[in-house]
Amino acid sequence: MLIGPNLILLGIWFLTVAHGNYCPVQCKCINLTVSTIRVDCSSQNLKNVPPLPKETDELYLQDNLLTLVPPGAFDNLRNLKKLNLSSNPLHCDCKIWYLIMWLSDRNMDGVSGIKCVYPSSLYGKPVSQLTGDEITSCLRRTRLCSDFLFNDAFLYAFLSLLFFLMILCLKTFKMIKFKIKVSDNDIELRTY
Ligand SMILES: *[C@@H]1O[C@H](CO)[C@@H](O)[C@H](O)[C@H]1NC(C)=O
Ligand SMILES: *[C@@H]1O[C@H](CO)[C@@H](O)[C@H](O)[C@H]1NC(C)=O
Repeated sequence: MLIGPNLILLGIWFLTVAHGNYCPVQCKCINLTVSTIRVDCSSQNLKNVPPLPKETDELYLQDNLLTLVPPGAFDNLRNLKKLNLSSNPLHCDCKIWYLIMWLSDRNMDGVSGIKCVYPSSLYGKPVSQLTGDEITSCLRRTRLCSDFLFNDAFLYAFLSLLFFLMILCLKTFKMIKFKIKVSDNDIELRTY
């Protein structure tokens, strides 16, 4: 009963991914060439980075309400040559690491215009010029004790489930053996 709608959803997903050329609703897209797009999402009061087409060559996100670029948000943008993130209230805390690493991996126009707004001690500082010292306090806090405990709890739950499934498997196997014996007897009876 659920297969129909799921297949349709899968089809839509496949078309979107295969085509890859969708434009985020809040943005304007212009084809620069067959395989490159200018995506203009400026001045839209965006609080989150929208999902972006992988052909994005120029990305305008200036004048929005973005406080961070979530880790992974730009990972599929292999063509990006121009990025404008100016006039966004960027928080230069732990989560800015993704943007720093991402920017350091490429040579791009507009990088000097990406500036911290919070905390006040870093106001106006270009993200690309942040030093390790300025965010070291965050390094110490990234892996909390509770993270380990949480991950461990998941691991134990998974192992318990695996163990339970193994027992179930063994039991089923025993039952199958038993059934075969019974039917063997049946066959013997019948052939007799
Ligand atoms: C951009 O190109 C794609 C196909 O590559 C097409 O579907 C789309 O309509 C084009 N958009 C514009 C604004 O020309
Ligand atoms: C980014 O956009 C702002 C506002 O439109 C503009 O003043 C600035 O020159 C742009 N920066 C780059 C590098 O394009």
